[in-house]
Amino acid sequence: MGRGGRKLALCLTVALFAAWALYRLLTSCAVWYDHRPIMMPRNTYILGENRKVYPYDRYMPLIFIGGVPRSGTTLMRAMLDAHPEVRCGQETRVIPRILQMRSHWLKSQKESVRLEEAGLSKEVLDSAIAAFCLEVIARHGDPAPRLCNKDPLTFKSASYLSELFPQAKFIFMLRDGRATVHSIISRKVTITGFDLTSYRQCLTKWNSAIQTMYNQCREVGPSRCFMVYYEQLVLHPGEWMRRILQFLDIPWNESVLHHDELINKPGGVSLSKVERSSDQVIKPVNLEALTKWVGNIPSDVVRDMADIAPMLSVLGYDPYANPPAYGSPDAFVADNTKRIRANVQLWENRAKDLLSPQRTFQDVNIEDSASEAAPAPAAA
Ligand SMILES: *[C@@H]1O[C@H](CO)[C@@H](O)[C@H](O)[C@H]1NC(C)=O
Repeated sequence: MGRGGRKLALCLTVALFAAWALYRLLTSCAVWYDHRPIMMPRNTYILGENRKVYPYDRYMPLIFIGGVPRSGTTLMRAMLDAHPEVRCGQETRVIPRILQMRSHWLKSQKESVRLEEAGLSKEVLDSAIAAFCLEVIARHGDPAPRLCNKDPLTFKSASYLSELFPQAKFIFMLRDGRATVHSIISRKVTITGFDLTSYRQCLTKWNSAIQTMYNQCREVGPSRCFMVYYEQLVLHPGEWMRRILQFLDIPWNESVLHHDELINKPGGVSLSKVERSSDQVIKPVNLEALTKWVGNIPSDVVRDMADIAPMLSVLGYDPYANPPAYGSPDAFVADNTKRIRANVQLWENRAKDLLSPQRTFQDVNIEDSASEAAPAPAAA
């Protein structure tokens, strides 16, 4: 190559590099396209052990777990919490509520106009709501490379969350609605809109809630929203946890199959004394909760099941089988179940030790606020 040729190549390289640098600069501060001055928050981060810095922002790969309450969301998050790279933690309760508030603002035409006129554009509100959720998620528990949130009812807004957090992934817990409703009624879990005296009414509510969440999950799409059947997770935890971790791009670790050994240990599974499911997830994965509902649903409701809860068939549950054949368990799970049945007293004592004062279970009214409430502030 002659001298001229080399010079030309050099010039081209320099020009290409300059163009690339300019492009990076412009795209990294999109602000420059717009010449108005803007407010920017300071960087946020958490200091972990040994002052290790854990930065957090909207573009991190958060994990959201959701579904109708009493569908295995706590088991799911406990199994992920057992992984050294993941921290979910207890239900935050405030995240589904702020999402619900926003959907009320949007539903009111008058309020939307007032907000827009006051400068609260979609962008401003999104940024504020994302910041609120992120602060709560990042700071209500220990720092970890992968943060996760489990508030079952957030999935009514899964599509909006997927917009707020473009790298987030969603794990949608599905469970036979008859088992979910039996658990809600027998454990007296108050959820707005559910009448705990009526199986028929609760199954109708279950159907509409699961329908909404199912549509949201489909809107988010299969690359970011993964449907997990509680029954299958419990019958075949190894296979399903492998699939789930692969979906989340997290390396396999055997510890997810032994969450019960990490309850309230550092870096393990933090439990709330006042969450309904805490006394169940202290046990290893077992079959106790699969078919408890059989024989407890009034016969007229059993007869009309396909009409009351058409989502059962949509999800693949036979509405006329009581119970349907969920499948046969892995030996590991059958063995866990046998050990639990042989030692009922031991597990009751362990629940008392880990979750005392046990009394709070009966006294605290857990209200999983749903979206049926009127847009007015909770006045009652
Ligand atoms: C699994 O996690 C433990 C810590 O909980 C760690 O010591 C171990 O090396 C991990 N195993 C694999 C295969 O990554």
